[in-house]
Amino acid sequence: MLLKGKKALILGVANERSIAWAMAQVFKQEGAEIALTYSGDAIKKRVVPLSEELGCKIVLPCDVGSDEEIKQLFIDLKKHWDNFDILIHSIGYANKEELSGSFLNTTREGFRVALDISAYSLIGLVKEAQHMMNPGGSVLTLSYLGSVKVVQNYNIMGVAKAALESSVRYLAWELGSKNIRCNAISAGPVKTLAASGVRGFRSLLDSVGQMSALKRNITAEEVAKSGLYFVSDLASGVTGEIHYVDAGFNTAALRLPETTQS
Ligand SMILES: NC(=O)c1ccc[n+]([C@@H]2O[C@H](COP(=O)([O-])OP(=O)(O)OC[C@H]3O[C@@H](n4cnc5c(N)ncnc54)[C@H](O)[C@@H]3O)[C@@H](O)[C@H]2O)c1
Repeated sequence: MLLKGKKALILGVANERSIAWAMAQVFKQEGAEIALTYSGDAIKKRVVPLSEELGCKIVLPCDVGSDEEIKQLFIDLKKHWDNFDILIHSIGYANKEELSGSFLNTTREGFRVALDISAYSLIGLVKEAQHMMNPGGSVLTLSYLGSVKVVQNYNIMGVAKAALESSVRYLAWELGSKNIRCNAISAGPVKTLAASGVRGFRSLLDSVGQMSALKRNITAEEVAKSGLYFVSDLASGVTGEIHYVDAGFNTAALRLPETTQS
């Protein structure tokens, strides 16, 4: 078991489709003790039964848009754990109207919200978490190709993911002297609550499924299994990396139509 004796704080479970839920299941199977969080009562109603399914006794509130809630999360966690090893940040949010149409219609407030919740939150969480994290610990976040390439309708979330990926590199340098690592997985599209907020997501999923090297989409479980590598000692020498789990989609620039391939 790769995570025997390790404790993992996982933020971002909304329901059974969440990438964070796949991580919670895989990490538990590998021997980790899990703590989950939720933001708001609607999500709490879903997360509590899932936590019971997992035998996870720690379920704490945290809206990452609030510095006070982030601080309180670690005060609450300290009542259960003196320290922990793994922090999963699987959180992203933009107002729905920002995720369709012209990028030029991005509003100042839409920019603020997307960058605050999807990127700043990693910095805010790590700032508090580092005092409780053990040497050898690992922080992992989730990004998407829209950070480095234009993906229609992803709009301001692409900018937020670019900021998130840059933050991963700066955090990796800050945390290195404490022997804590920080990495990101750039996942291919997976049908989740957050993803369905992006206009045309169904078509995106179909296109990627046809055009990726593996000629299929990836699953949340595949993201979680790669996450297992990053948070375990297998990746003890790896930090500041953005690792693609996307069936090879990002490696191709162009695919010719079937009729012109030969
Ligand atoms: N699903 C995909 O296609 C895909 C691809 C690449 C990257 N990602 C990233 O993976 C991460 C997880 O998303 P997912 O696809 O599992 O969807 P999801 O909807 O299951 O998870 C998103 C989570 O963010 C949480 N969240 C939003 N605002 C919050 C706030 N203010 N405070 C605390 N939590 C908040 C939600 O409660 C939810 O649990 C996100 O960063 C997303 O951008 C997803």
